Amino acid sequence: NPLQGAQFVLAAHRVNQLPADVGAEVAFAGRSNAGKSSALNALTGHKSLARTSKTPGRTQQMVAFSLPGVVQDEMSQAAPTRLIDLPGYGYAKVPEELREHWRQEIDRYLHDRKSLRGVVLIVDIRHPLKEFDRTMLEFCFGTLLPCHVLLTKADKLSRNQAAQALAALRKQLDASTPVTAQIFSSSEGTGVEAAREAVMRMLHG
Ligand code: GTP
Ligand code: MG
Repeated sequence: NPLQGAQFVLAAHRVNQLPADVGAEVAFAGRSNAGKSSALNALTGHKSLARTSKTPGRTQQMVAFSLPGVVQDEMSQAAPTRLIDLPGYGYAKVPEELREHWRQEIDRYLHDRKSLRGVVLIVDIRHPLKEFDRTMLEFCFGTLLPCHVLLTKADKLSRNQAAQALAALRKQLDASTPVTAQIFSSSEGTGVEAAREAVMRMLHG
């Protein structure tokens, strides 16, 4: 597993507190409680690298994890690779001010972060494409930033229902956009290998 050596680096309240904007990174985004942190743990093969919780709104920072792989920068120097766990979006019980803060910081992150190579959008397979998800997909369409959708918690549906949810999502995605999608389950390990490959493709091209 090429993501195995992931290590916690820091947690940031603002984009400018993140590690230096060099190398390549992939961000995990999605609604609160969708299963972002769990997906990150499944992909890196760690049980509790990223903190997960039954209570929505667990991740209240941008959390950076370093990866062992390197990329070459413009000067052909080895530069680091990272994963970023973004705070969950859309949890109603988080105070409005804080929600607005994260809306702005996520927006700033997406627009300003030069090392960002792609987004893993985590969507609960039982509630596809809420407003946040659509906004994120539209951003990716508009900027040609690669996006890979994990329809997670697939263990909550039958195989047939899960396949139908994926087909329904793909129908909504324009074939000309850089968005791919798959079925996923952190608890059962469904689709973990394919998702790792998607992350590696985004990081290393
Ligand atoms: P925030 O940080 O609060 O935005 O949430 P998150 O998106 O990081 O979600 P997290 O990974 O903390 O998971 C939320 C809840 O969903 C936890 O109770 C997890 O155990 C559960 N969960 C996550 N992934 C899966 C999955 O694939 N299957 C099932 N059945 N439960 C899952
Ligand atoms: Mg989280």
